[in-house]
Formats: sequence, structure tokens, C-alpha cells
Amino acid sequence: MAKPGIKVFAPASVANVAVGFDILGFALEKPGDEIIIREGSQPGLVISDIQGAGGKLPRDIMKNTAGYSAWRLMEHLGETKRPVEMEIHKKMPFGSGLGSSAASAAAGVFAMNEYLRTGLSKHEILKFAVEGEQIADGAYHADNVGPSLLGGMVLIRDNISLDLKKLHVPAGLCVAVIYPHIEILTRESRGILRKEVAFADVITQTGNLGAFVAAMYTSDYDLIARSLQDVLVEPQRAHLIPGFYEMKQAALSAGALGFSISGAGPSMFALCDNTLKAESVIEGAERLYKLKKIGITTYFSKINQEGAIRF
Ligand code: HSE
Repeated sequence: MAKPGIKVFAPASVANVAVGFDILGFALEKPGDEIIIREGSQPGLVISDIQGAGGKLPRDIMKNTAGYSAWRLMEHLGETKRPVEMEIHKKMPFGSGLGSSAASAAAGVFAMNEYLRTGLSKHEILKFAVEGEQIADGAYHADNVGPSLLGGMVLIRDNISLDLKKLHVPAGLCVAVIYPHIEILTRESRGILRKEVAFADVITQTGNLGAFVAAMYTSDYDLIARSLQDVLVEPQRAHLIPGFYEMKQAALSAGALGFSISGAGPSMFALCDNTLKAESVIEGAERLYKLKKIGITTYFSKINQEGAIRF
């Protein structure tokens, strides 16, 4: 019989949030990944089981986002000979734009941190989770991993030093998420982005980001609505998502404050100032994608302030 272990959950997240490409993201209440860590039978970290991934994820800890993030923490502590076994339960879709690999990376390092009782804070172990996620998309950014581990709406001033701030979130803020059942790989969705953008667009985007942050602190929903406009990345990625602009129109007509692509897509999110409007966005999505004969999964959530938890 397997030894008792430590069980953790790390949530999905919405990255970019229209105005903060690679530097802004928030955590959802669900879905998310679960990881169990227990004493193993041989020195070092071994992934003993992966459930819910349809055989798509490697068990090699150097190639697995959860395994690698946990391993990097063991290395950091000089604990690489500790016999540890990890079970991964994927409970969210891949390539969905909801930070699936980030949730695994956050859960992996958080579980190991709890198991080893290091006393390190979530912020102190964040870099190992970012390194874990980097295996999946090749880039070093914490806009999914940050919220998945720490919870909340996270603004990253600098991805290298991981200088970040959890923003104030107005009490009523909630989100409708629409995940159309197509797969977009982050690596590819990043690959299509232009390396240079127009100066005028940078001015617009920085104005929107600054105003969005100010609006969060003052619970100014009208200003949130005026700010949530992405002139840099959304126009370059929208064509990857069937029905994106129709869905955006429907969401804004249903009263959403703003609507854009979640991370690298294909999921989309609508921030709303109340539950009824979020429900109405979800109903609109169900109607639209039924007509288009594209399956969707929808999620309603508040901003999850806890991030990774032990349960
Ligand atoms: N900021 C990232 C992107 C999130 O949009 O490419 C997905 O990893």
C-alpha cells in the first residue's frame, strides 16, 4: 500500500489580461492540477504515476514541468538524494490557454516545499516553478505561474528578478472563461508574434495598463472597462480562435467589462462586475459555439486569492 503523502492543488490562471502581455495574470478557482508527494523507495525524485494526461506527459523529471520544478527545489536545498515519489493528477486541459503547465509546475514545487518543510515562502520558491514551466514553452515568464502559486491578480514588474505585486481586487470582480475545444500550443502562439510594435501602440497599451491598475485599487469599474483593450497581441492572435470577434461582441453586449484572449489561447475571458453578467456571457458563448458546432467548456470564477493549497 502507498505511504500517506502530501496532497496539493494549484489552480488554472488567465495570463496577459489584455493589457499585460507576460506581466499580468490572475488565478481561477477551478480547474487546476493535483499532486501527491510521499516518501519514495529509491534515492532522488521519481514520478510514479500521471493520471488524466492521456499518456502525453513525460515521466522524466527533467522533461516534466511538475517534476522539474520540484527537483530544482531539491537541488537548491542539497536534498537530491532524498527518496521522494510524485503522483500527478492532471485535471485541466492542455494547450487551452489556462496555464496548464504552469499549474503543474506550481503544484510540483509547492508540494515539495511542504513535504520538505523548508519554511521557504511561496515567493521564494516561485523561481523554481517558472523554470519548470519554461520546459513547456521555452520562455521565462511568471504571468501564469505567479498567480497559480501565489493566488490573486499578479503584476510582474520584472520577470527575471520576479519583482511582483499582488494587486488589490474589487470585491465584486468575477470572470467568465470560455474554452473552445481546439488546441493551441503556447510555443506556436508566441512564435507568430511580431518582434517589433508601433510606438503609438506602446503608448496606448501603457496608458491602458496604468489605468487598469489604478482602477483595480479604486474599484472603478468604468475605468476597468475603458482600460481592458489590447492593441498589441490580441489583433495578432485573434485569427487562431474561431468566432473570437463575434464572441467578444456578444460578451460586451452582455455587459462584460472587457473581453480578450486568455494567455496564448484558445480560451477567452470576460471580466465582469457581477455574477449575472458573467452567467449571461456564458449563455451567449453556449449559443454561439453551438451554432458553430464547436464544443466548449465554460468556467465561472471569482479571482482566487489563495493560489496553491494543501488539502
Ligand atoms: N504570456 C504568455 C503568452 C502566456 O501569452 O504567450 C502563455 O504562456
